[in-house]
Amino acid sequence: MGFRIVGTGSYLPEKILTNFDLEKMVDTSDEWIRERTGIRERRIASPQEAASDLGVKASQKALQMAGISPEDLDLIVVATITPDMFFPSTACFIQQKLGAKNSAAFDISAACSGFIYGLVVVNGLIRSGKFKRVLLVAAETLSKITDWEDRSTCVLLGDGAGACVIVPHNEKTLLSYTLGADGNCGHLLFIPGGGSRLPATEDTVRNKKHFLKMKGNELFKIAVRVLAESALKVIREAGISPEDISHFIPHQANWRIMKACAQKIGLPLEKIYVTVDRYGNTSAATIPIALDEAVREGKVNRGDILLLDAFGGGLTWGACILKW
Ligand code: UT7
Repeated sequence: MGFRIVGTGSYLPEKILTNFDLEKMVDTSDEWIRERTGIRERRIASPQEAASDLGVKASQKALQMAGISPEDLDLIVVATITPDMFFPSTACFIQQKLGAKNSAAFDISAACSGFIYGLVVVNGLIRSGKFKRVLLVAAETLSKITDWEDRSTCVLLGDGAGACVIVPHNEKTLLSYTLGADGNCGHLLFIPGGGSRLPATEDTVRNKKHFLKMKGNELFKIAVRVLAESALKVIREAGISPEDISHFIPHQANWRIMKACAQKIGLPLEKIYVTVDRYGNTSAATIPIALDEAVREGKVNRGDILLLDAFGGGLTWGACILKW
């Protein structure tokens, strides 16, 4: 038994922050940001919008496409590194706001790889036979953990959410997958404060310990290698060749990473679905947002072979071959 994604949805906050806006905030330029990352603009949540608010809007669109009402859901899984609160989980907030009263709910913490981790977890739970109507959401408000004085990170990040409704299906559609992690490199991308290691104090606030820290150029090299290795592994395990892939939907952190990765896999650049120019890096949400856009634009059709590929903090990574 497999699963099928029967509805997709996404939501991006209204406010657009362009590279030219950032030129007025930090020592950077539109040219530098475009050339080094491919990003032109990103979306920023309002002060009133938390991750669950973005997630609910994406979920409502996915449920509408699926023709499924919130009460029919039996499980909600949310991938996020910017939860509304430590607890309750963001999944519980989304459950309450949707009115999905018959649903279990929990969060997954796998940073930018959260959507792929989520897909693999949902696959297992659906195969158990216990769950029949599952909502998988990735919702991020990275602007709330961004140091707006740090030019090395603030130009990269954005806010947004994507969601999928997933149901059991006779045919196998997850043709192959891989998940991985390397805790030894956790220090390359993290938030030092606010957890049990370094609880919030006046000192942690003054010293900006609650903001995301990243060693970008060290991550860059690992990202290209790991994304390409994972992709080649799932292509091999699915018994297909790169030519069989209709669309490559990678995590959208940097156009240069995506391009280098496609070249290593042997995929033409036209097969990459790109959103990083418009939304920047929205962590776990980049893949489901891109997937929803590609579906709604009619680019992804039933029978298409998709390669999803993610990499992020933890470090974590994951890739899969999905028959749409
Ligand atoms: O979400 C998954 C995990 N994240 C990633 O995968 C991100 C991976 N990393 C990257 O995308 C890239 O490394 C960055 C976009 C973060 C940086 O690009 P880079 O080509 O690796 O630049 P760099 O960090 O090596 O910095 C080059 C120069 C430095 O100046 P010097 O030392 O050469 O004088 C930086 O200070 O660019 C400078 N710089 C900037 N200049 C203008 C760094 N940020 C900026 C900026 N504007 N915003």
